[in-house]
Amino acid sequence: PARLAVLASGRGSNLRALAAAFPPGDPLGSVVLVLSNRRDAPVLALARDLGIEARFIPFGADRARFEREATAQLTAAGIDLVLLAGFMRVLSPAFTARYAGRLVNIHPSLLPRFPGLHAQRQALEAGARESGCTVHFVDAGVDTGPVILQRRVPVLPDDTEERLAARILAQEHRAYPEAVRRVLLGEARFEAPQNQEATP
Ligand code: GAR
Repeated sequence: PARLAVLASGRGSNLRALAAAFPPGDPLGSVVLVLSNRRDAPVLALARDLGIEARFIPFGADRARFEREATAQLTAAGIDLVLLAGFMRVLSPAFTARYAGRLVNIHPSLLPRFPGLHAQRQALEAGARESGCTVHFVDAGVDTGPVILQRRVPVLPDDTEERLAARILAQEHRAYPEAVRRVLLGEARFEAPQNQEATP
């Protein structure tokens, strides 16, 4: 079975969904480690409540130090797949290259639309008629890697950012475990970008 780690900065509702889908003893995999760049993140307390080992690693201004420490912890724990779940920092090209194909993110929009911060607000401000969530492999860009799956939701005329975020989040909790299952079953794989040149 695969050993899964979650990197998160905040509330941890996606961790809860992943931990429920991949509990201890599951033949496909289990969430065994949570790392957070925020000492006071609710996700750390939640992980401990769920019986999952949880560690704070400061990020601050020193990304290289965070990544060295995170790599050491992930290696020591024998982690096969790293899942970003509300991890609000950008990882370096060296880190994303090291974990290529073993590093997955969830983002609250239908990428490539609305990458970056406040994706739900961006969708409202753009007047989008629908939005959703995307689970994707992480590459060196911000919210750019190969898509594993997406789930769509309507944007309603009287939506607030909070209501849209909640509607998307409900889909995230279904999408993330399903996407991880596909990766673990070998149904979704990280491929190098296609050669864009036309064949003669
Ligand atoms: C989720 O909506 C996730 O998609 C988003 O943060 C939220 C975390 O919620 N991630 C990003 O915006 C990444 N740029 P959670 O802590 O309850 O899982």
